[in-house]
This record gives sequence, C-alpha cells and structure tokens, in this order.
Amino acid sequence: MAHVLAAVAWPYANGPRHIGHVSGFGVPSDVFARYQRMAGHDVLMVSGTDEHGTPILVQAEQEGVSARELADRYNRVIVEDLAALGLSYDLFTRTTTGNHYAVAQELFRTLHRNGYMIEQRTKGAISPSTGRTLPDRYIEGTCPICGYGAARGDQCDNCGNQLDPTDLINPRSRVNGEAPEFVETEHFFLDLPALADALGDWLRSRTDWRPNVLKFSLNLLDDLRPRPMTRDIDWGIPVPLPGWQDNPNKRLYVWFDAVIGYLSASIEWARRAGDPEAWRKWWGDPEARQYYFMGKDNITFHAQIWPAELLGYDGKGSRGGEPGQYGQLQLPTEVVSSEFLTMEGARFSTSRGVVIYVRDFLERYDADALRYFIAVAGPESQDTDFTWAEFLRRNNDELVAGWGNLVNRSVSMAAKNFGVVPPVAPAGLTDLDSALLGKARDGFGVVGDLIGRHRQKQAIGEAMRIVAEANKYLSEQAPWKLRETDRDRMGTILHVALQVVSDCNTLLTPFLPHSAQRVHEQLGGTGVHAPMPQIREVDDLDGGPGYPVLTGDYRVGARWESVPLPAGRPLAPPKPVFRKLDPSIVDEELARLGG
Ligand code: MF3
Ligand code: ZN
Repeated sequence: MAHVLAAVAWPYANGPRHIGHVSGFGVPSDVFARYQRMAGHDVLMVSGTDEHGTPILVQAEQEGVSARELADRYNRVIVEDLAALGLSYDLFTRTTTGNHYAVAQELFRTLHRNGYMIEQRTKGAISPSTGRTLPDRYIEGTCPICGYGAARGDQCDNCGNQLDPTDLINPRSRVNGEAPEFVETEHFFLDLPALADALGDWLRSRTDWRPNVLKFSLNLLDDLRPRPMTRDIDWGIPVPLPGWQDNPNKRLYVWFDAVIGYLSASIEWARRAGDPEAWRKWWGDPEARQYYFMGKDNITFHAQIWPAELLGYDGKGSRGGEPGQYGQLQLPTEVVSSEFLTMEGARFSTSRGVVIYVRDFLERYDADALRYFIAVAGPESQDTDFTWAEFLRRNNDELVAGWGNLVNRSVSMAAKNFGVVPPVAPAGLTDLDSALLGKARDGFGVVGDLIGRHRQKQAIGEAMRIVAEANKYLSEQAPWKLRETDRDRMGTILHVALQVVSDCNTLLTPFLPHSAQRVHEQLGGTGVHAPMPQIREVDDLDGGPGYPVLTGDYRVGARWESVPLPAGRPLAPPKPVFRKLDPSIVDEELARLGG
C-alpha cells in the first residue's frame, strides 16, 4: 500500500471547459486515480479552479462583471461539468479560499526568508493612453523563440515557453493595439539560478517520464533566469511582506499561487476530514508518490517553477535555508503531460466557435462515450484530432458493437434461459473455456501495469482485446444452439462468458465508471461498484464566503481483481448499457461548429 497523490491541473475559472481541456488533465487523472484506489493504494486526488491573474480579469471585463463574480460563476459551471464526467476528486476546491491564501503566503514568506525571492527593479508595461499598468496577458507580440505572431506577454501558446512582456517582438496592447510603454517597477523574483543544481539533480533522476515531457523539461534547465513572482495587478493574493502587504496594486503572480494549490487543497481536504495533519502522508513521506496531470502548455510550471518553489521552501538551493512550518515537502514523482487535442483538424478556438464545451457534449451524449474516446483515441503522447466521424465510429463499432454487445447477449441469454448465473456443469471446463478465463484473469496484471505507467491507450486496448476474444468465443461456441440438445454445456458456456464479462467490467471500471456500475447491477451485483463524486456546498474554513466543492467517499467499490461470480445469482433481462448513435449526428455537429 502506497500513498499516491494525483495532482490535477487547475482549470481557469474564466469560462466553461471544453473537451480538449478534459482530455488533457481530467479523464487521464481520473483513470489513474480510480485504478490506484482499486489496487489498494491510498489515493489523494486534488485540484480546483484557478481564479487569479489576468485570464480572469480579461474575461471579467468582457462580461462586464467583477473578477470575483466571474470566478464564482465559472467555478460552479466547472464543478458541475467535472462531476458529470464522474471525475473522482477527493477535493476540488478553488484558489480564492482563506486556506489557500494562507498556504500561498506561507510558501512565499519561507522562500523569501531562505533567500530565494529576490527583489529587483524591472520594466513594467503601462498603457500610454491611460497611464494604467498593462498586465502581461494584455500584451501580445511575436514570440522571440518560435516566431509565432500572437504570443502573449506571459507565455507563447505555440511553443509553450514562458515569456516576459519585454521579450516580445513588436509588443502591442490587446485592449487597443497601442504599443506599451515600459517603466521601472519593483518585483520579487524566484531565484532559479540559485536552485539550478538542485533542480537539475532532481530532473536528471527522473528517467521514466514520457520522453517528450522529459526532453522539454531538461531543455528548460539551459535557460534559468530569475522569474518574477509578483505582478502589478489588483486581483490576487497580497504579497505577505511589510510595505507590500497593504499595497492594493501588487499581488502574487497567478502561477506562483496556482501550483501551491496542490498543497493547499491537500491541507483543506485534511482539515475538512477532521484530521488536519493527514495531508503530510502524501507530502512529507519520501515513500509517497506524486503524479501531476496536465496538458503540455503547463509543463514549465510543473517541471520547473513548482519544483523550484518546493526546493527553495525545503532549503535545498545553493543558499541553503530551513523548511517552513510544513516541513520538507516532496517533489513530483512524475509530470504526466499529454499533448493537444485538435478539433476537426483545427486548434480549439472559443472566439471562432471551434469548440465543444463539456456541458454541450454531455447534453447530447453519455459521459462514458466521451471517456471512452479520450482513453482510446486521446492525445496521450502526440497531438490528436477529434472528429465527429471518428467519435461515431468508436462509439458504435467498439463501445456498442464490441463491449455493449458482449454484455447484452451474455446476460440476456442467461437471464432468459436460466434466470440466474448458471453453474459450471459436472463435465467441467474445456481447454478453450479455461484459456479464455485465464486471459481475463491475466488482464489485471497487464492492464494495471500499463495504467500505472501512464499508457492508458495500450491499457484500454488490452481490455478491449479480451472483450473481442470473448465475443469470438461466444460466436464459436454458439450456446443458443444447445438449448434443446445440451443444456448443461449451454450453462457452462454462459457461466464462462458471464465471468469474463465481470472481469472485463472490472478492467474497464477506471475508464467507464458509469456503465461499469450498471453492468455490475446487470450481473446481479448490489452496492457501489464505481463510486462517484458529489457536489457539496461548504463554508470557507477561515470565514470567507461559501462555495461548492467536489468530493466523495471512494473507499467503497470494486477491487482490482477477478471475483468469482456465484452460480445461482438471479439475473434480470438487461437494458442496453450504451447508446448506438445515428450517423446523422456527424453532419448535425459539423453544422454547429463555428456556427
Ligand atoms: N489554469 C492553468 C491552465 O488552465 C493551469 C494551472 S495548473 C496549476 O492552463 F497547477 F497551476 F494549478
Ligand atoms: Zn513561441
């Protein structure tokens, strides 16, 4: 039994999330967490909405509401969407809680005390026409690294590199197109050069990451400059130092505080569980494992900035130092980053309408149909295209005609002819029967190992291969022909088929938790097979306004093992578990895109 932290990227609360987002951070982290729990590990899965910084301000301005109102609005939308997808967070919270403010400030203070936050004069952008500071995200220009024309002042979305506004070629304001003016301003910089050796030692000891992710992260070591961790902005966490704390126009940088959310959410979870120190099992123990899930545009912050914050907090850079009140904190075991999902050959673009929001998707299709597509055809290790034609094909030919059909024909034939799970007849099992049962049992080792190593495409492929073999077995054994001639053998075949359905259902549970619960019930099972998250309205623990969280009790549910189906257990005629889709949806959906 190990302590496993599933740390899932925090979506910005500046709009509803689309299926590209949840294919990067959402579904893969849930598959991983569900599997680890089923395998008996003690999992803590945390995240929340990322509610500070210019992404929120830009959108609030557009919608004509305050930053707080905007964050409240989309925090709730996102919580509901993630719940509908069945993502099993132990705690999904937000960055505007009293708890998060306190934890972020404790990290800043300790980094400062240890000498890793250095004050520097720097150039800040202001708008010449208004005289107001122009946050990084309001500045656009050409990326000096890859030449992309619409890079932002904080980051280039094309090459993923982190930028400063002064790096941009031909910078211009996104508000009115004018060229910003750069004036002197004071900021705190995270001293990455002083943490370079410690960062390099840690990163070079990570050998089993996805090759793309490791390569990108190692490259970042070549360009370690101090990075500003405060901003000239009035929305965010106050800088906890005398002279700064009460300045309404200086705030912690949104990325500085967002990554700290993993720790603050763990602490919030422990406080809510009534065991305020419990989070330490995932953060203070060198034996615990920490996996971070995100899309590739987030790698810099998880493989460089966050580990550097942790190393500085631990006092492990060239300036030494002592850990703060949380003690030594563990660095990521692995940064599990996926690539991008595109949409019918184009980048997702909210402004051009090339987007499918999770909410809209789930109004028309089932959560498990989306989860299946993401698992089997998502952007695990290369950019991948979502097309409606491919979604239809995967749903109809694989989910419905493969897995759904196996469940349906096995259970209905047994229900109709026996009314119960039939026993293995005295003649016993044939070699073919035993071989199929053996393959399903072996699936637990194979599929589990693949999920544990973040090869989810291969993992679900293995499970579906067993499904295909079981379908072939049923077709060849043709139990329906034995109804009059050899009822005993018919029962044995159906017993074997139902046992394999049960095993395959367990193997598919991390991927398809909603339908797994229904299949479990169709096999006559009772109780919770795949636990689901719940939305709870809670009070802020430190006196702030209340908010909705996602949480759940995941100690119940199936284990990662083959469980013998008891002969004689009553079976009812089943309803189809998956919905076959009409091919006309492809044209309907294409007409909606960009419309
Ligand atoms: N909000 C960021 C994004 O959507 C992700 C933040 S991940 C965190 O790209 F770790 F910083 F929280
Ligand atoms: Zn670039």
